[in-house]
Amino acid sequence: ELLTVDYQVVSDSTNDTVKQYFKNNQSNILAITEQQLAGRGRRGRQWVSPFAQNLYFTLGLELDLPISELSGLSLAVGLSLTETLNRLAIPAKLKWPNDIYIEGKKVAGILVELDGAFDSPCRVIIGVGININMQVGQHTQAIDQDWTSLSIFSGKIWSRTQLAQQLSEPLYQDIELFTQHGLKNKVELWQSYDHFYRRPIRLIMPNNEIAGVGRGIDESGALLLETANGIERFIGGEISVRGM
Ligand code: BTN
Repeated sequence: ELLTVDYQVVSDSTNDTVKQYFKNNQSNILAITEQQLAGRGRRGRQWVSPFAQNLYFTLGLELDLPISELSGLSLAVGLSLTETLNRLAIPAKLKWPNDIYIEGKKVAGILVELDGAFDSPCRVIIGVGININMQVGQHTQAIDQDWTSLSIFSGKIWSRTQLAQQLSEPLYQDIELFTQHGLKNKVELWQSYDHFYRRPIRLIMPNNEIAGVGRGIDESGALLLETANGIERFIGGEISVRGM
């Protein structure tokens, strides 16, 4: 199906741009912008989105997916982008559920939201932010975690147009594949990029913390953690993973 591309020089949040299309009963949208005034991250965080430096885009798709499969979708998206970056000789890694890291610093994040949660096909909002040419400077004090950009890592300036194309084409295909097979056949590949695989980690939850060793994911996208009680599985939400 044809994709409607919505390009705006400045927008609040491309996730909201897509929600607006959904309200008008339009889907298959790619919203992309140069700058976000209210870029959002997961868990209520801000996503720093300065003008003309990075990639900020959102796909608005109607997918034939049961709600139960959705938690895996953001992992499939992260994996697709990570694979493409590695093809471009960027040693990108994954941090569950869907952060992308280079040398232990965050370079990209994914914010999946739902519209009309219990409808089928379900309308999904897949927001992607990737730090491309952003340098340490005036906009970046607000970032509350270790971060990097493709440019900081590689020492060169990247074409955002070219990258948008290189990243999004395999992404559509991988999302399509995900709707057919879920994460089946992807678990080992995901693990091969897992920043914390076989490493000691802590899971931070609203009311407690669990320590263990990272054992990758299962087919549903749950995190596997080896603790004193054996291998336990954890699903999304409010969990955040930290190194020791
Ligand atoms: C995270 O790691 O916390 C997720 C960050 C997601 C940022 C992208 S940028 C494009 C889209 N629009 C938003 O407001 N957020 C996502």
